[in-house]
Amino acid sequence: MNFDIAVLPGDGVGPEVVAEAAKALDAVGQRFDHEFFLAYGDVGGVAIDNWGSALPAPTLAMCKRCRAVLLGAVGGPKWDDPQAPTRPEDGLLGLRQKLGLYANLRPVKVNPLLADSTNFKPQVVKGVDLMVVRELTGGLYFGKPKRRWRTSRGRRAVDSMAYSEQEIERILRVGFELARMRRKRLASVDKANVLESSRLWREIAIEMAPHYPEVALEHLLVDACAMRLIQRPVDFDVIVTENTFGDILTDEASMLAGSMGLLPSASLAGLPQAGKPRYGLYEPIHGSAPRRAGQDVANPIATILSAAMLLRLSLGLEREAAAIEAAVDRALQAGFRTYDIMAPGCTQVGTKRMGDLVAERV
Ligand code: IPM
Ligand code: MG
Repeated sequence: MNFDIAVLPGDGVGPEVVAEAAKALDAVGQRFDHEFFLAYGDVGGVAIDNWGSALPAPTLAMCKRCRAVLLGAVGGPKWDDPQAPTRPEDGLLGLRQKLGLYANLRPVKVNPLLADSTNFKPQVVKGVDLMVVRELTGGLYFGKPKRRWRTSRGRRAVDSMAYSEQEIERILRVGFELARMRRKRLASVDKANVLESSRLWREIAIEMAPHYPEVALEHLLVDACAMRLIQRPVDFDVIVTENTFGDILTDEASMLAGSMGLLPSASLAGLPQAGKPRYGLYEPIHGSAPRRAGQDVANPIATILSAAMLLRLSLGLEREAAAIEAAVDRALQAGFRTYDIMAPGCTQVGTKRMGDLVAERV
């Protein structure tokens, strides 16, 4: 079969890790007899340099034309001027918003092979297998007013955490549905003791719960969740939360797995139904890591696993996705590690070598 995939390498280590994911796709294509047509485009800082916009119109048009988008990372010190009219991050946020990708799935699974290379005691992280469902197109990231101005008493700035009932309901539904397919536990995370938007969030979660009798719902304040995540992470199954809380909690949760360099993500406009794959954008949860860029050291596994999620959720290619995941496992099993997960007795490799080792094993 033939599939069009938009590929947006972006900035920093983005192009390096995306190249390795492309290798894995190529290997899958050969083994399973598919053709993946990768259409490359600019987003982020590189797009600002080349087009004067972080999300040029041709990039957006190309993404819409394809079945799915694979993205590296955006941002870097070169474009960090707080006065700049546009920032690389606007490209990513624009894509999420313009493509309606409100549901961000961030699975955090501790690979038993790496339980010793985290900062935690192995018994704390062993068996961790959780999924964070992060609302991706609302909240502080997009709420209005959002601006900065001068007053006689100095500068002021405002961001708004705004949510509508519809926005809350549709993301909670993704949380409930996923919990139903998994271990049937859902933690809805808010700050209802302080924030009005969180009180609405919690109210709606309580209203929806009777429609999912098989799911055990609990409400957690975000600060308590941050603590529980490192105290007893195995307790979690599905966590559903608003945009900013999800951003922060997933960086924290990534450390359970050992490194941000391991964690993939999918951004969707709802869950795929049985047998009906769905458009999505796939990216590692790590950023552009500008200080690591161009050195062939970045861990490509998060992006390679993002490509696996793309195959499964947007193309309906389950066996192919599993082949990539198994290949990653076998490369780790053979003792190969990038710097971020290096452990005694293992062989340290760079970005390209890790990509080759995985592709060979597909
Ligand atoms: C993420 C990133 C982005 C976010 C940045 C790059 C805008 O941190 O995907 O978690 O905040 O959503
Ligand atoms: Mg983040």
